[in-house]
This record gives sequence, structure tokens and C-alpha cells, in this order.
Amino acid sequence: MTKVLRTIAELRAWRNALPSGSKVGLVPTMGALHAGHISLMDLAKTHCDTVIASIFVNPLQFGPQEDLARYPRPIEKDIALLEASGVDALFLPEPTEVYPSDNSTFVVEEAVSLPLCGALRPGHFRGVATVVLKLFNLTQPHFAFFGQKDAQQCAVIERMVRDLNVPVEIVRGAIVREADGLAMSSRNVYLDPAQRAAAPLLYQSLLAAFEAYKAGERDAAKLEALGRATLAHEPSIAIQYWEVRDRSSLAPLQTVGNDGCLIALAAFLGSTRLIDNVLL
Ligand code: PAJ
Repeated sequence: MTKVLRTIAELRAWRNALPSGSKVGLVPTMGALHAGHISLMDLAKTHCDTVIASIFVNPLQFGPQEDLARYPRPIEKDIALLEASGVDALFLPEPTEVYPSDNSTFVVEEAVSLPLCGALRPGHFRGVATVVLKLFNLTQPHFAFFGQKDAQQCAVIERMVRDLNVPVEIVRGAIVREADGLAMSSRNVYLDPAQRAAAPLLYQSLLAAFEAYKAGERDAAKLEALGRATLAHEPSIAIQYWEVRDRSSLAPLQTVGNDGCLIALAAFLGSTRLIDNVLL
């Protein structure tokens, strides 16, 4: 049985009752769970004795024009999925439980959070870092699991953990994709059939660059031009960014060196914003 904990008091009591030697793993999510999330639960089970998931659609990480109100919240289905994957507990708080009305303390990372999604979604990573640190403080996990799907989010959290000496080990899980290559996302349900049919091109644009890289191309501008060209003839896809970056600092690269790179993209299909990436 997955124990559903709705308040901070319930969470703390549950945590304090765990045996002291128990290795605890946390998988933070915003729900609308799919196989990508479940892969993180499975990964957590291989590292930990006790696994707790959280489902919290964190208002602090949504911009005023973003999809906070319409974000999918199929909570019964989510709980059934967590039960089926053997997750021990679920933290499922209301926003008022998480944020005091006069909350005035935030976590701001000031380097890896700035480019890419950070530049286009002001305040987003401040919201993510703040809620993740709060979840760490509440749950006191030994390990926490994040998907490579959100590569910049992983980089921001790893930097926060290092800089603030947070005693949690961050583990990244691989991107889980649909059969046609589209990275699984809770936002894929927003796509209409035509957009859904076009969406796998995003991954194909990354693979086009990957193939060129394997064939020896190291010029970042050329890899970028190739990837963008793959998407150029699809009118339903509007690229926000498509970039070759250093895998840990996320700084722009001119030439891909021996330690490879991250290629990351964000694009709108209609009003739905999707992201994807590959590590070369
Ligand atoms: P959410 O978008 O629900 O994602 C929860 C976790 O699942 C994240 O670590 C994300 O990278 C991972 N994930 C999503 N799609 C994936 C896929 N296709 N393959 C593998 N992993 C995938 O990310 C968030 O929530 C929030 O920002 C959160 C960290 C919970 C803070 O509010």
C-alpha cells in the first residue's frame, strides 16, 4: 500500500518512524504520471529501501501566462500507478500546506539556471529550486531521482546541492520515449492529432545532429544548422531554442570537445511547449 501523506505533520511523522538504517529515496513530480516518472520510481527502488514520491503542481515555477490552471491532475490514476510500482509513500500536499501566505524565502541559482529555459521562463528555476529544497528538508532522503528529460533542471539541482552542502545524492534517470521517439511528458496530452504526428520530429532533429557527430562533425554551428533544418519545413513546430552546450555548465560551445556536449531544444506546437535533449 502506498501511504498517502497530505500534510507536513503526517510526512514528518512517517519519516521519523522509518528505521534509522533505512535508505530513503525521493522522486519529486507534478503528477499526471507516465512511464518516464515510473522509470524513476523503479530506479529509486534499486538504490533505496524506502521510496517516497511527491505530487505537487508547484505554482512557484509557473509563469503568469503558463499552464498552471490547466495542468492535468488525474490523481486517482496516479495513486494507482504508484501502488502498482510499489512506492511506499506519496506526499500530496495542497499549495497552502507548502507555502505560508507570507512566504519570503527562495532559492536562486545564478549560473546554470540563466540560459535556455531559464532565459525564456523567468522565475521558473527559482520555483523549482525552492520547492525541491523544501521537499529535501521535509523528506530527508539519502537519494533523489530526476529525469535527464529536464537536463537543465538536473544541472540546477546538482549545483544547488553542491553549493548549499545539501546531504542528498542526486541520481539522473534516462529519458523514456514513446515508440516513435517523442519524449514522454505530462504535456503531450495537450497535443491535437496533427501536432502529435509532427512531434517526433523534435527527437529526429536531435538524432540528425547525433549522426553527424558520429560521422566526425564537431562544429557546434554546423550541428545546430543541421538540427534546425530538420524542423524548418514543419509549420506546426516553432523552435524556441535548439543549442549545443557544455553538458555541465550549459555554456555555449563552438567546438565539441572530448567530453561531448548536451544538445537541448524547446519548441512550441500550438500553445504546448515541449523540450527534449541528447547527450553526445
Ligand atoms: P515533472 O515534470 O512531473 O517531472 C518529474 C520528474 O520526472 C522530473 O525529474 C522529470 O525530469 C522526470 N521525467 C519527466 N518526463 C520524463 C521522461 N520522459 N523520461 C524520464 N524522466 C522524465 O520536473 C518536475 O515535475 C518538477 O519541476 C519538479 C522537479 C517535481 C519540481 O516541482
